[in-house]
Amino acid sequence: MLPDLDRHLTDAATAVAEAGDLDALRALDAELLGKASVVTEARRELGAMEPDERKDAGRRLNEVRAELERLVSERRTVLEAGQRAAVLEAERLDLTELDRGQRLGHRHVVTQTWERLEDIFVGMGFTVAEGPEIEDEWHNFGALNFPPDHPARDMYDTLYVEHGEPGSTLLRTHTSPVQIRVMEAGEPPIYSIMPGRVFRSDTADATHMPVFHQIEGLVVDRGITFGDMAGTMDAFTKAYFGREFTSRLRPSYFPFTEPSAEFDIRRDDGSWLELAGCGMVHPNVLQAGGLDPEVWSGFAFGFGLDRLALMRHGIDDLRELFRNDHRFLSQF
Ligand code: PHE
Repeated sequence: MLPDLDRHLTDAATAVAEAGDLDALRALDAELLGKASVVTEARRELGAMEPDERKDAGRRLNEVRAELERLVSERRTVLEAGQRAAVLEAERLDLTELDRGQRLGHRHVVTQTWERLEDIFVGMGFTVAEGPEIEDEWHNFGALNFPPDHPARDMYDTLYVEHGEPGSTLLRTHTSPVQIRVMEAGEPPIYSIMPGRVFRSDTADATHMPVFHQIEGLVVDRGITFGDMAGTMDAFTKAYFGREFTSRLRPSYFPFTEPSAEFDIRRDDGSWLELAGCGMVHPNVLQAGGLDPEVWSGFAFGFGLDRLALMRHGIDDLRELFRNDHRFLSQF
C-alpha cells in the first residue's frame, strides 16, 4: 500500500514554495528525497508487492519523485538568483565615482600660487588688473623711464616680435608695463596688482626660465612713502609664508623707481633668494602715465610668482614646475 502521494505532493509544493533561503531548501531536499523521505521509504515497500501492483506503484513513485525534484530545483533557481542579486548589491562599487576621481585634475601649482596671491592682495584692498603679453616698446621701456639705448635695457634679454618698425613690438619682459596701462586707465587712488606671464631670452636653470610669471603691485595716492611700501611687502610676505619668515630690503636700481630696492627672503640653508624688485614710482613714470608727480606719489613692486611657489613648497628647481611630469605636479 502506497501512502497518499497526491497529498504528499501538495504538502511538498507548499513547503518548497515557503523555503526562504538555500539552507532551508537544502534541508527540505533531504527531507523530501533523502533516505528517510516518504518516496524512498515507499520504494522499499515495492519488493513486498505483487508484480502488477509493483509496476504501477513503481511508475507512480518515479513520477512523484521526478515532480519533487522539479519543485526543489525550480525553487533553487529562484533562491540562487535572489542571492546573487543580494551579493551584487552588497559588493556594489560606484565605478562612475571612481572613474571621475581618477580623471579629475587639479590646478597647476603656479595657478594655485597665482590665485592665492590674488586672494591675499584682494583681502588687503587691492584690485586685479591685466595687460597684454605682446607689448609695444613704449609701455615696456619708454614710459618706464628707460631712455633709448640706455644700458638698463640690457638687464632684460628682450624677445622682439616681427611687427611694425624693428624693435617696436616685443614680448613683455616684466609686468611693469601694466603699471602704465593702469595709470592711463583712470585717476588715483590706485591700489592694484597685475599678475601675468613674462618672457626673456634666458637659458633655463634652477632659478631662471625664459617664460615665467610675475605679480606687479602699484599703489598711487596722496602722501605715499617708502615706509608704506616696506609695510605692505612685509604684510604680504607674512600672509603668504607665515609670521616667522625673514626678509631684507637691499638697495638696487631700476629706471622706473627711485629709490629702488631688492626684496630677498631667507632660505632654510641660510642663503637669500631674490623675490622682488620694488621702489618709489619715479616722477617721470607718473608723468608718462598722465599723473602729476606734484600731487601723487606711489610705490611699485614686482614679485617672481614662480619663485614664491618654489619657496612655499620647498621646491629647489624652477624647471620642475614646467616639465609637466604628472608625478611631480600631483604632489601640490
Ligand atoms: N619690473 C622689475 C623686474 O622685472 C621688477 C620691479 C617692479 C622693480 C616694480 C621695481 C618696481 O625686474
